[in-house]
This record gives sequence, structure tokens and C-alpha cells, in this order.
Amino acid sequence: MHKQAIFAAGLLTISVTACGSAEKPEVVEQIVVREPGSAEVVAPEAPTPSAGALDLVALGEDAFQTCTGCHSVAPDGRSAAGPNLYGVIGRKAGSLAGYSYSDAFAASEVVWDEASLDGFLADPTGYIPGSEMMAGAVPDEQAREAIIAYLSAQSDNASGQ
Ligand code: HEC
Repeated sequence: MHKQAIFAAGLLTISVTACGSAEKPEVVEQIVVREPGSAEVVAPEAPTPSAGALDLVALGEDAFQTCTGCHSVAPDGRSAAGPNLYGVIGRKAGSLAGYSYSDAFAASEVVWDEASLDGFLADPTGYIPGSEMMAGAVPDEQAREAIIAYLSAQSDNASGQ
């Protein structure tokens, strides 16, 4: 958790640097002064205390684009080539009703949390030998962390972060 917080702060720094030129406060001020009526359009969004966490989730959403060919995270529970991943944190591996898992998954005792998802995404067939998830390995640790933050947010239990 602690590590994740540090990582989130690092990402925030990177993204602020990357798009800083578009968000320079003095530019916003100029527009507000000239066109008071449009202030509501150009008003900068107030940074929230959890901006770092939101940023991590946003990065995870981007990284998750490599998964959407096989996985949906929609709350409707619909599966594609891979099982639906809405609310996957806290779920036992291979337990989504209506999806036909490999024998290896069906027999697995793994419960998905940050640690097990990290291990699985690093090496899906190594973590659950016999897994039929043949694509979607995420070698980059920071990308895994972001994806897991994103998946954590796709849940009824998401703590409104
Ligand atoms: C080529 C299709 C494909 C891609 C791409 C893919 N997956 Fe999968 N995924 C699967 C399949 C198939 C399974 C079920 C494996 C089995 O039954 O052995 C699975 C299972 C999973 C599970 C376990 C779900 C459960 O109900 O136990 C998680 C978590 C998961 N994938 C996450 C991801 C993430 C995150 C990505 C992107 C980084 C990804 N997958 C990319 C096909 C894919």
C-alpha cells in the first residue's frame, strides 16, 4: 500500500510535467479576466487529496486497453473470450458463474487480491499452470500496479477513491 502511494505520487509528477503547458494557471486567469461569462468553462478543476490515486486508476484504464479484446469490466457481468472482471478483487479464481474456465482455473484456490493479481499478470501461465489466458501478460511492474488499481475501482466496493 505504502509502495503504491509512492508510485502514485511519482506518476502524478510525470503527468503534470507532460501536460503542464496546457494547464498553466496564468493562461486560465487571462481567459477569466477577458470573458467573465465563460469562467465556468475554464475554471480549473480543484485538485482533490486523492488525485494521485485517481491518476493511477486513469493510467490503469489506459493500460487495460490491452485486455479489452478479451475482458469486459462492465457491471452487467457479461464475459467475452475471458471472464468479466467487474468486482474481480476478492473473487475466487475461476468462480464467475456462466463462464467456462480451464480445469486449472476451476480447481484453483487463488483469491484475487493485489498480490495474487500482480503475480498472475506478471506470468499468467506460470502463476496458474494450465491457464488458458495466453495473452495479456504485463511484464512492467508499474503497469501492473496501475491495472490493479483500475480493477479495484471497477467494483461495488470501490471506496470512492
Ligand atoms: C487473449 C485473451 C485475453 C487477454 C488479452 C487477457 N486475458 Fe485475462 N483471461 C483470459 C482467459 C481465457 C481467462 C480464463 C483463463 C482460464 O480459464 O484458464 C482469463 C482470466 C483472467 C483473470 C482471472 C479471472 C477470474 O475470474 O478468475 C484475470 C484477473 C485476468 N484474466 C486479467 C486480465 C488482464 C488484467 C488482462 C490485460 C492485461 C488480460 N486478462 C488479458 C483471456 C485474456
